[in-house]
Parts: sequence; structure tokens; C-alpha cells
Amino acid sequence: MAIRNIRMIGDDILTKKCKVVKEMTEKNKELIADMFDTMYDADGVGLAAPQVGILKRIAVIDITEDRSNPIVLINPEIISADGEQRGSEGCLSVPDKVGIVTRPNHVKVVAQDENLETFEIEGDELLARAFCHEIDHLDGHLYVEKVEGELMNTADLEEEEEE
Ligand code: NI
Repeated sequence: MAIRNIRMIGDDILTKKCKVVKEMTEKNKELIADMFDTMYDADGVGLAAPQVGILKRIAVIDITEDRSNPIVLINPEIISADGEQRGSEGCLSVPDKVGIVTRPNHVKVVAQDENLETFEIEGDELLARAFCHEIDHLDGHLYVEKVEGELMNTADLEEEEEE
């Protein structure tokens, strides 16, 4: 297990479409473990493989504060989406920025787990947002493409809250 280097916006690899994972190799298992280490170390709620420079359809998510609900998504696809939420979103590849993005409020995802067994998972609110955000990464898209208005600096937002 190791912390990997997170690729930043402007890096070409973040704009590429990732490849379907067809077998669970030792290398892929190591990648998944490293992705969790890297996400937790960076205080993120989600991380997609291209963010550590690997063009495979793998994402990890954990939206809990005590880091108690790790989710691995391999070859994930959104099979249904409904409702709407408008809220701020950030990304470990776009440090110190947030922007307002509208996403569905509820999504259902079909994916494979670490044993390549297919499962379905549903999420509301932040989890739905995380599913959409991470799956976008696997298709080479960053949330900044969807931001309404300007990207904001997290430092400015904190100042506003203090005032
Ligand atoms: Ni991201």
C-alpha cells in the first residue's frame, strides 16, 4: 500500500477515456488499495484511477467522516438518475477550488466489485454527487466543465464564513 501522486488539472491524462477492467490482477488490487490510501491521505471523498495516472475504469468512494464506508466501483455505469441537487463540488485534481454543479439527487449505479462480481448501489445527495463525479472522471471529464458561474477559492469561502 502506498500513497500515489495525484495528477492535477491541465494533465492530459485527466481528459482521456478509461479502459474497461476485464480481470482482477494483483496489480489492480494494489491499485485499489493505493487509491484508498491516497484518497484518505488527501482527505477526499472519492478518487478515480486516472487521477493517479491509470486509465482504468476504477473509482473509490467514501463519503463518511469516520472513513467507515469504503466503496469500490469497477466499470461503473449509471442506470437511473432522478431529482436534482445544486451544490458545491470540489476535486482532488483541482486543489483549493470549489464550484456550483447541478447533479441528480438520486442515482442508481451498476458496477463490479473487487472480485468482478456485479452489484447495484444507490445513493442520494452527496453519494449521488460522488457517483456522478467519479464516473465522469472515467470518461475524461472534470466537474469544472459543468460549473455554474465562477470557480471559487476555498480560502475565500472560509473567510466569508468567518465574517
Ligand atoms: Ni474529482
